[in-house]
Amino acid sequence: MFNDAPQSPNAGDQTFSPPADSILRRKDFLLGTATASYQIEGAIHEDGRLASIWDTFSAIPGKVLNGDTGEVACDHYHLWEADVDLLAGLNVDGYRLSIAWPRVMDEKGQPNRKGIDFYKNLLDRLRAKGMKTFVTLYHWDLPQYLEDRGGWLNRDTAFRFAEYADLMSRELAGKVDAWMTLNEPWCSAYLGYANGHHAPGLTNIRYATQAMHHLLLGHGLAVPILRKNDPASQVGIVANVGRGTADSDSPADQRAAYLFELQHNNWILDPLLKKQIPKELFELWPGAEPLVLEGDLDIIGAPLDFLGINYYFRTNVKSDGAHGFVEAPPEGVERTQMGWEVYPQGLQDLLIGFHKTYPNLPPIYITENGMASDDEVIDGEVVDNQRLSFLNRHLAALDAAAKAGVDIRGYFIWSLMDNFEWAFGYERRFGIVHVDYQTQKRTLKRSAQLIAQFLADRNKQS
Ligand code: FCB
Repeated sequence: MFNDAPQSPNAGDQTFSPPADSILRRKDFLLGTATASYQIEGAIHEDGRLASIWDTFSAIPGKVLNGDTGEVACDHYHLWEADVDLLAGLNVDGYRLSIAWPRVMDEKGQPNRKGIDFYKNLLDRLRAKGMKTFVTLYHWDLPQYLEDRGGWLNRDTAFRFAEYADLMSRELAGKVDAWMTLNEPWCSAYLGYANGHHAPGLTNIRYATQAMHHLLLGHGLAVPILRKNDPASQVGIVANVGRGTADSDSPADQRAAYLFELQHNNWILDPLLKKQIPKELFELWPGAEPLVLEGDLDIIGAPLDFLGINYYFRTNVKSDGAHGFVEAPPEGVERTQMGWEVYPQGLQDLLIGFHKTYPNLPPIYITENGMASDDEVIDGEVVDNQRLSFLNRHLAALDAAAKAGVDIRGYFIWSLMDNFEWAFGYERRFGIVHVDYQTQKRTLKRSAQLIAQFLADRNKQS
């Protein structure tokens, strides 16, 4: 039925109707949408916001498709009130956003009132409209002044992060339902320091492992601070997880798939949940052991209230003939505008796998899941049936994992609206709301309309 080409956004389901026994129909299950500061806010020079590594990186020719930057993005910094109303109109239970560190704190660690007020007002309005607020402290926009001091290669950045977490949780206490320290440390460390696809664009695996250690240390230092300053809120972290499947039954390919998941998932989850860095990582990356000081892993392994999981696709791999793996992309499968394979089974497999591997696995929120398609407004409508089909199938996978015993509390669609998709700029559209970047007009896609309807009906019944 499907071929390798990205699917037409029109091909797929035309409904959003989880089965009668779906976890989604439970009153206490949270259905929300997610965004991140650099991807939507714009206003990068306003009200004392300082430069971030993504301003610097996207200004370098060739780093971002079409030379796009976050300078204007969805202009959410100015349109936030209307955007909250838009969210409320979708009837969602919650909203995941992130704070731009360079907006709220200066080089000396002093608060920037105007930047902080922006988030106070935003959170107040969200809560006034009955939404739960999930706040990520670090969704990749590191202040450039910290990068100039070595960024995440400098151990001191972990302590600066803890100071920032302290300031935010004192200022915003009582307005946040759940704090997330970091978004996807794998991307910050690997894409930022090993393959250079993301800011700061460095390419050395030893940097990546050291950056990962400092990111996780920053997380661990922040956890007790967040708990102390904002005791009523939950504290967690967000990991992007990858499903690696083997191209054949051969032991070498099976090992390749194992290593793929080790470097995607265990690299982050083992320090957090087992206080260990997996040794086998360094068979893949000889000599890349990070410098870890005594006590660091105890800090990193502080208990969590929840774990945020971001899931998008699987990677089929085979042995590279030595100690590693290479991708073996399957043919004839459904893909999205990103070229990512649609593979809902991977979500189920990973969740059940984590449940078995980690006896202390905290409750799970799916903090991102969704897809990009080449959506257009035609006669005032955006028909994104492939997205509906994608969401329906991933939610069915979530139901299957819940039935198998995984404690799943919520699901956030990435994303509320089309936005700056990092190295892919504005070309890839992940929103359930379409954004016209010339006019900043928001148009609900069919997926958004049907989800809003589903939630209205669900809320009537409960
Ligand atoms: C994740 C990021 C998010 C978004 C999605 C598509 O890796 O956390 O900001 O770009 O991918």
